Amino acid sequence: MSTAKLVLEGKEYEFPVVVGSENEVGIDITSLRAKTGAITLDPGYGNTGSCESAITYIDGERGILRYRGYPIEKIVESGARFIEVAYLLIYGKWPSAEEYASFSKLMTQHSIIHEDMKNFFNHFPPMTHPMAILSAMVASLSGFYPDGDEELNMIRVLAKAKTISAYAYKKSIGEPFVYPKPDLSYPANILHMMFAHPMEDYQVPPVMEEALRMLLILHADHEQNCSTSTVRMVGSSGASLFASISAGVCALWGPLHGGANQEVIQMLERIRDDGGDYKKYVAMAKDKDSDFRLMGFGHRVYKNYDPRARILKEQADKVLELVGVKDPLLDIAKHLEEVALNDDYFIERKLYPNVDFYSGILYKAMGIPTNMFTVMFALGRMPGWIAHWKEMKEDPATRINRPRQIYTGPTEREVPPR
Ligand code: SDX
Repeated sequence: MSTAKLVLEGKEYEFPVVVGSENEVGIDITSLRAKTGAITLDPGYGNTGSCESAITYIDGERGILRYRGYPIEKIVESGARFIEVAYLLIYGKWPSAEEYASFSKLMTQHSIIHEDMKNFFNHFPPMTHPMAILSAMVASLSGFYPDGDEELNMIRVLAKAKTISAYAYKKSIGEPFVYPKPDLSYPANILHMMFAHPMEDYQVPPVMEEALRMLLILHADHEQNCSTSTVRMVGSSGASLFASISAGVCALWGPLHGGANQEVIQMLERIRDDGGDYKKYVAMAKDKDSDFRLMGFGHRVYKNYDPRARILKEQADKVLELVGVKDPLLDIAKHLEEVALNDDYFIERKLYPNVDFYSGILYKAMGIPTNMFTVMFALGRMPGWIAHWKEMKEDPATRINRPRQIYTGPTEREVPPR
């Protein structure tokens, strides 16, 4: 095995090198402080691997994304059901017909929430963001299911998250909760529980079911992103799956992460209401004195087009045409992209549209309200969070995550006399 040499204060040290299955190279510094007394410093962890993982591979330079080795484009094109992809991410293989049947049966059985839990929705203030509700409800599942059966809790949280999310939406519009239906797919049940109404017959439009299937799959995992790393961090302390996922929901809520899909639509609406002058906003995004950012653009890892954004951009045209919706926001988004991708500021910084840039257009076309967009992202990401939590728990190398720091505060001093 090759090694990496470090010279510190005139002394030379050697560290082993880890090479992944895609030839990524990592310098193993687990012995660094013991050998040298020094630590590394990497705010935001842009150069730091937290673990070895076999779940998802991203090549940011080439715009590649694979779940368990399968390219995301091929998974979407294959027509795979979201629950099959969830099974693949969590257990590392496509389910056999029998495995799918029993997994799907369990998902159906665990789709409803404890009847007492419905009362919780009555006690959130009316304008509570549904991500706050989702996080609180997922954590409170530990009160209803204290058995600590984490294998079953993986099913419980995946199955119930969609019901909790739909109930949060129904509560926000004062409509009665709608139970999931055993004969509907995961995406269809989300739309059924959100849009069915006791006073009228509602059939889930197939084009919407297909669009949501694709959106959920595209969001299902993304290796060590902020929210997944949060799930791993919390789980590394021995906290339960419910507690870890609840924390992941909060991390995803941030506007720089999953919350960006909501910010993108609000940005596009701001541009539309400001006369559609998208060039003005591209200029603002480049202006260091302006705190305006082109939401849905840029990525810590992708320095090429996010493959998910490419698929979503293609789908947006198709879905809008099929539902007969003409959304000026899509045209503004395309113009923004075109100007930005030809502008040196974005080219030099390798800023491309990311998954959040077009997803909101599709959610909007489905009639999903803007404040539910990040909840949709969380529902897609649930299998990835579960898969990483499981991998972390099963990894013998896992230790409680506890980074170091470089202290820059006052050195020792006397407490002033009182
Ligand atoms: C997701 O990690 C994942 O995998 C996340 C995700 C997943 O599936 O889990 O892919 C989902 O979170 C996608 C990202 C959604 N967020 C946004 O769209 C918010 C807007 N984008 C940014 O704020 C930013 O690009 C980040 C947060 C995504 C990445 O930030 P980095 O890697 O810390 O980059 P940076 O902030 O240091 O920016 C580098 C340069 C800076 O300029 P300089 O100081 O070098 O002059 O690029 C500029 C930034 O000002 N820049 C932008 C910009 N993004 C970066 N300038 C204008 N508009 C932007 N959107």
